[in-house]
Formats: sequence, C-alpha cells, structure tokens
Amino acid sequence: MIVASGISSQILASRVADALGCELAFCEFKKFPDGEIYTRVDMERNEEAVVVQSIRSDADLMCLLQLIDAASHLTESVDVVIPYMGYARQDRQFRRGEAVSARVVARCVSAVAENVRRVFVVNVHSKHVLRYFTVPACEIDAVPLLSSYFSDLNDIVVIAPDKGAEDMAKSFADAIYEKFGEKVRYEVLRKKRISEEEVEIEHKALEGENAIIVDDIISTGGTIAEAASLLRGMNVFVACVHGIFVQNALLRMRKAGIRDIISTDTVESAFSKVSVAGAIADALRAK
Ligand code: R5P
Repeated sequence: MIVASGISSQILASRVADALGCELAFCEFKKFPDGEIYTRVDMERNEEAVVVQSIRSDADLMCLLQLIDAASHLTESVDVVIPYMGYARQDRQFRRGEAVSARVVARCVSAVAENVRRVFVVNVHSKHVLRYFTVPACEIDAVPLLSSYFSDLNDIVVIAPDKGAEDMAKSFADAIYEKFGEKVRYEVLRKKRISEEEVEIEHKALEGENAIIVDDIISTGGTIAEAASLLRGMNVFVACVHGIFVQNALLRMRKAGIRDIISTDTVESAFSKVSVAGAIADALRAK
C-alpha cells in the first residue's frame, strides 16, 4: 500500500503513512499561467493506493480528482480519504433550482476512475451525504479523539450551538463519561442564521465552571462567538473537527472571550491539536 497526498493534506497524509507503516508517495503540484492546476504522482506500481486530500476550495477538488486519476493507472485499487469534505453543507436543495453540491462532489469522486474502491470522510456535515457516493463510503468519527483533549477539566457543560450539533455534543459528553467517569451535561442552543457571516442565538440560562462549545465546522466564527456571548463568567473552550477559520474568525472568537480553540488536522492550522491519522489508519485497515 502507498499513500499519496493532495496539496491540502500533506501533514495528515504523512501521519497516515506513518500510522500504517507504509510509503508516502512523492507528488508534484503546480499551477499553469492561466490558472489550471497540474498534479503528478511519482510512485512505482502498487497493489493499493490511498489518496488523502481535504476539499477546502475548487482547486482542492480538482487536485483530488487528478490525484485519483493519476494513482488509478498505477494501482489495482484506490481508497480515497477526504478528511474535510467541503461543499457538504449544500447537501440538499434549500431553494428550487439549486445544485446539490455535495452530490456533485460525491459523484465526481466515485466516478473519476473505475478502480475507486472505498471512500472515507471525517465527520461529514450530514450523514446522508455518504449515500451520494456510488462506491462504498463511510464516516470516521473524530469526536471521541477531541473529547480526550479535555481530560483534566471538571464541572463541564458541553454546548451545541445549534440543533445540528446536538448529536455531536451528546457523543462528546458520553465519551468524556466513558473515558474519565466524569458525568457531563450537554445543552443545545437555538440558532437563527441572518447572513453568511451573522447568526443570532436565543438566550438560555446555563451553569457550570467550564463550557466546551462543540461544532463540526468553524468557518467565520460567527456561530461560536455568538454562543460564547451567552457564557460570560464561565471558562469557555471550543472544540471543532474542521477548523476552516475564514476572514477574521480567530479575532471574533478571541474577542468573545474564548480561552482555547481545539481542532483536528483535517484542515491544518495552528489549532490542529488532535490528529485523526490513527483513526484513518484503523478505518483503512478494516476490510
Ligand atoms: C452549520 O450548520 C455548521 O455546523 C457550523 O455551525 C457552521 O458552518 C459554522 O459557521 P460559522 O463559523 O461561519 O458561523
């Protein structure tokens, strides 16, 4: 088996190769003067290739598809790992006439080469997106790994900033209880999105010394900053799987009084304090 990394997941892909004890392929990426991107994988013929690439942008998606195509000619089968699947939030038509972007991505990944065997996505925004792939696709759950980071806190309340994060908050609280025997409450807030950058969250009385706000994705930081404003007087921490941190997200969260931000390495940043490499390697080993 050999691991090939796309341009956006080089640290994580090398950790996955280490965890699997297999080779990391050398890949080249460049952009032509007209903006078109070019990808090349330098590897010997192999039985299986694992392609690892998060999708944060259109160029990332193109790079992923190119890499699968390139690897497919040199191997019997290709497993695709998408640590962060961008476009997954547009998982259905919210308004008539809209493209279902998550389905577009899933179909492209499944069909780009005939020998794509399996797809793995870390905490996909909605589970039904997995059904858009036309090859077997499964989710890798980073929540237990994230919860382990908070082993030395007590009197914790886990906060889901919206209904969509409720399952994550519940499993986060359960994982802390299972690992450390610490009973943890979780609360769900009600969020209304005003625009792409602004949200409103209904006031709710909350108690506890330490609050951990959990979400799958942090993009502009608006959701987290608004939720943190309800938690004045508590030590507020944030745990997310995918830290995208666009625009002034970090400043917004900092100004909202957040003590620490913890994300995984599905999107690499200074806040990637938890690695999903081991969980990816385990999933790949399972036949
Ligand atoms: C929304 O459904 C997601 O789970 C996140 O809550 C959202 O993407 C966060 O976006 P932002 O950081 O821009 O508020």
